[in-house]
Amino acid sequence: MKILVTGGTGYIGSHTCVELLNEGYEVVVIDNLSNSKIEVVDKIKEITNKDFKFYEGDCCDKNLLIKIFKEHKIDAVIHFAGYKAVGESVQVPLKYYRNNLDSTITLLEVMNEFNCKKLAFSSSATVYGKPKSLPIKEDFPLSTTNPYGTTKLMIEDILRDLAKSDNEWSIAILRYFNPIGAHKSGLIGENPNDIPNNLMPYIVKVATKELECLSIFGNDYDTKDGTGVRDYIHVVDLAKGHIKAIEKVLKDKGVDAYNLGTGNGYSVLEIVNTFKSVNDIDVNYKITTRRPGDIDACYADPSYAKEKLDWEAKLGIDEMCKDAYNFVINYNKDE
Ligand code: NAD
Ligand code: UD1
Repeated sequence: MKILVTGGTGYIGSHTCVELLNEGYEVVVIDNLSNSKIEVVDKIKEITNKDFKFYEGDCCDKNLLIKIFKEHKIDAVIHFAGYKAVGESVQVPLKYYRNNLDSTITLLEVMNEFNCKKLAFSSSATVYGKPKSLPIKEDFPLSTTNPYGTTKLMIEDILRDLAKSDNEWSIAILRYFNPIGAHKSGLIGENPNDIPNNLMPYIVKVATKELECLSIFGNDYDTKDGTGVRDYIHVVDLAKGHIKAIEKVLKDKGVDAYNLGTGNGYSVLEIVNTFKSVNDIDVNYKITTRRPGDIDACYADPSYAKEKLDWEAKLGIDEMCKDAYNFVINYNKDE
């Protein structure tokens, strides 16, 4: 079975390529390297001891996608490619609408043309907006609070329309909660060049003294210790969820959405304290005001993914914190 992975050198894509190759799938990757590095291709090969074809290029480039589908008999696609920075999407919404929608529609057109109608798509828990209650189930009302989230919801709608129009399509919409951590090897992971927006990359940069101090955005939320609560999921568990989703789309038809989360909510302070203790390192922090748009708490009911995909997350926050730090230490050593 040959799987096309768009955005396959990115954070979640690279870990998913490793799991696919380890499971014996053939892999073809397309990535324009707008948010990842070419070195990742060799790291994936090093971890798995397997080879795969990499195309540097854009999913909005229809001719390139046609060339890839002509050169390979693709059985299914995992579509990670897209921009993901919430704050930037508010500043430059057209960049997000253009890239996320155009790349997806172009990909779907080419898949249609080559009669490859099996897809797993990276959506996000952001499509639940401010959830009415917790834990979040897949049938909760959908809404968004920023252009990035709106691109995800628009693409979900496009996929539902497509599956309605042609019952040959088989689509898994995967709504990720908060992926953190890295592969045990320390060879792939997440280490943004810019000042990170997300919690774990920020904590790591404070621990390595690249940044001075973590700002904890508010301690007056309606949560166990007043700091925001999220469903952090180890990126390797998340990657394994894609294998299960691919197995499902290869054998079934129709469109369905699945929460990929652990079902556990941890506060910012719990994550910081766990990081400090498992890595035996200090993390300087201060409490500041709330970040606009943040919600008190967000965590999944992951039971539908367990029932339908036979998947559940196994790794806890100790491993997530250990592996995130290990990757960056290893990365900085090589720089
Ligand atoms: P990432 O930025 O590390 O990976 C995305 C990859 O896509 C990058 O390598 C980038 O170079 C590539 N890319 C972007 N636009 C492209 C295009 N037009 N053509 C070809 N390649 C392109 O992000 P990630 O964290 O691995 O996220 C993967 C997907 O999961 C994204 O769609 C993201 O929105 C979604 N998601 C991520 C999170 C998260 O917290 N990381 C949460 C929910 C959903
Ligand atoms: C954010 C996005 C979400 C996206 C996800 C992964 C918003 C509203 N949501 O989720 O759409 O899918 O990132 O890219 O932006 N925190 C701090 N200090 C920091 C950073 C974060 O205290 O420097 C806190 C936040 O207030 C929050 C928690 O840590 O309570 C997690 O934040 P973050 O990692 O940014 O993820 P989300 O906000 O859940």
